[in-house]
Amino acid sequence: MKLALIGFGTVGRGAYDILKDRKEVLEKTVGPVEIAYVVASDRSRNTLELEIDEPVVTAKEYDEVLAEVDCIAEATGAMDMAYDYMRRALEKGVGVVTANKACVSAHYEELVALSEKTGAPFLFEAAVGGGIPVLTPLRALCLQNDILDVKGILNGTCNYLLNAMFKDGADYKNTLALCQELGYAEQDPTDDVEGYDTRRKLHLLIEMAFGHVDGDAIPTRGIAQINQSVVAYLKANDKKVKLVASAKPVDGGIEAVVEPVLLDGANSLAILPDAINQVNVKGSWVGDLAFTGPGAGKEPTGNAVVADIVAAATKSAMPLMKRGDVKLMPIRGRYFVAKELEGDFVDRVDEGFTYTKSVARDELLKQLDNDTFFARIED
Ligand SMILES: NC(=O)c1ccc[n+]([C@@H]2O[C@H](COP(=O)([O-])OP(=O)(O)OC[C@H]3O[C@@H](n4cnc5c(N)ncnc54)[C@H](OP(=O)(O)O)[C@@H]3O)[C@@H](O)[C@H]2O)c1
Repeated sequence: MKLALIGFGTVGRGAYDILKDRKEVLEKTVGPVEIAYVVASDRSRNTLELEIDEPVVTAKEYDEVLAEVDCIAEATGAMDMAYDYMRRALEKGVGVVTANKACVSAHYEELVALSEKTGAPFLFEAAVGGGIPVLTPLRALCLQNDILDVKGILNGTCNYLLNAMFKDGADYKNTLALCQELGYAEQDPTDDVEGYDTRRKLHLLIEMAFGHVDGDAIPTRGIAQINQSVVAYLKANDKKVKLVASAKPVDGGIEAVVEPVLLDGANSLAILPDAINQVNVKGSWVGDLAFTGPGAGKEPTGNAVVADIVAAATKSAMPLMKRGDVKLMPIRGRYFVAKELEGDFVDRVDEGFTYTKSVARDELLKQLDNDTFFARIED
């Protein structure tokens, strides 16, 4: 197989190192995997040329690249350019492997349809859960099972940040600054802490497990409202907060949401350490499964990219199930709210914090301003 690596940053370098290190094993087992080109940005091309032996080109030479390769592995983090790389490859029958959740989530239907039309593999394991193999087993599980529940922690930054707050009782701003210093959070952490990164990953899990939804319509609330007094109160009650993505079938469609969830201290998601991710899947035949591991990082994510490259080379990926649109249904649940509330929906108030009865999420939100922390209570 002839391959073009597009984007040579954290993930691209990880995939490159693994491909070089495992060259002989791969060659003996699945045939040669040759890195025919590395496609770099205009500004990085010259420095990269001095660093690696493979031909380094830019987007200007992409037509020539596509004429020669069987597969591209895209890890740029770009949006429009990444879409252009992927679309043009699939149109030409060239396989696409990508880690780019933002781009796949935004163009999912079109890219999948193109892949089905031309028969070119379209694989994006690294886009959900970084190094955790979850989409690959889920593709296979869906053939035998109705998926009854998907639930997970899909953002390492939020998991690290919440763990640190609950461990040290530190405040949100200082902990976020520490995460940025340690490289766990981006300089602009909005996508992570507001839940948008998690939403894109949940969107891809939903497409695979349940059917097509508009990813941007999945109700989403991040963790930016949490503060020291909430953490101190919950710690004293042996509870933890995690940012959880969940989706399950209900009458008429699916309930899907990304929001903080209140968990018992011993729950497997509550004890998930550091920046580790976990996806729990319940299948009608297989029962409960949990996929846990590093949700990001050069080597783990590079490993997921290489696994997809191998699947493309061996044409061994499971077909995606044909699914139509599925409706996002309103969410109901019991909630913990960091504010004293009154009304029929209130179950009890304790130390100024409200526990609700089962309530329509939309109705509850009408009572809250954007600064008020709330979390769903996990049954
Ligand atoms: N990092 C992780 O652990 C992780 C985990 C899962 C998924 N992902 C996803 O993987 C993708 C890459 O992430 P990353 O962390 O590797 O990003 P990164 O370190 O910023 O690397 C991106 C690379 O792509 C290059 N690039 C940008 N635009 C390009 C273009 N139009 N053509 C060719 N190359 C281009 C950049 O070059 P310049 O520096 O010259 O701009 C840079 O070398 C993102 O979509 C991300 O969401 C990352």
